[in-house]
Amino acid sequence: MLQGWQIEILRCPFDRSRLSAGDRAMECSHCGRMFAVVEGIPSFVTPDLATAHALEEWLNKQSEMQARDTQARQYDHLLGLALVSPVEKRMTLRALQGRGERFGVLAEIGCGTGRMLQHFARLADVVIGVDFSLESLKICRQRMEMAGKGDKTLLVHADACFLPLPDGVLDAVASCQLVEHLPSDRLRQQVLAEMARVLKHGGRFAVSGYHWSWLTRWSGAKQGMHRGGIYYYRFTREEFHTLVNAHLPVESLRSVLGYVWLASGSKEG
Ligand SMILES: C[S@@+](CC[C@H](N)C(=O)[O-])C[C@H]1O[C@@H](n2cnc3c(N)ncnc32)[C@H](O)[C@@H]1O
Ligand SMILES: [Zn+2]
Repeated sequence: MLQGWQIEILRCPFDRSRLSAGDRAMECSHCGRMFAVVEGIPSFVTPDLATAHALEEWLNKQSEMQARDTQARQYDHLLGLALVSPVEKRMTLRALQGRGERFGVLAEIGCGTGRMLQHFARLADVVIGVDFSLESLKICRQRMEMAGKGDKTLLVHADACFLPLPDGVLDAVASCQLVEHLPSDRLRQQVLAEMARVLKHGGRFAVSGYHWSWLTRWSGAKQGMHRGGIYYYRFTREEFHTLVNAHLPVESLRSVLGYVWLASGSKEG
């Protein structure tokens, strides 16, 4: 059962109209589309999203969605992530907080199993985790509940290119290792545009994405597929700066151990 504040904050991803909610579904007040609520997680991943994609973009997204669901239980045990996590966590929290700010509403777009979201929860009154892998979100929910953060958390099953949130609703937005998995430059631009749209003026952002560095050159190609059919793209410094800065003004751009770029700043206004 969704709480009042959770229903209040959600919008139809197609026309951003308000939703009315029952226990098992939400309905758009404008287009009448119905969105399921699966085990307490509102789901906005619907087949009509396909028409907003080129065929190859859609096939790549479907392939990643399936792979993320299948691999959800293994994600937290990946060796590379375990090694980089402590430093990444410290740098990302610091980058997002700027001058030590605390936030009302903070969202992580592409939160997966909650590896970072559990830490973001310390910084905000309310946290929203968005991901298109329902199985990852179920693990994330367990993790947030075990940490006693369940009541202040809203998990949303949605495509990051079509966020079911109103304009300017967030005090802070984070995205860790998501953008490299969007399978075209057009979709990477769209994800950044969506993050900028839902962030309020003056709100903080921190966005990370794979770094094309000496380390990652050694372990693979600039662009390719991970196990199970997960598309990735590794960015040069200039590529990552250009991508983020086209939508949100980058104040700081640092590499986390040669593994990911981390861009941060505040939305103008
Ligand atoms: C590398 S994982 C990172 C997860 C988490 N942010 C972390 O740092 O541990 C990338 C996540 O992005 C999600 N994802 C990829 N493309 C997405 C999209 N278009 N919309 C929503 N989630 C997406 C995947 O399901 C996956 O959970
Ligand atoms: Zn609608």
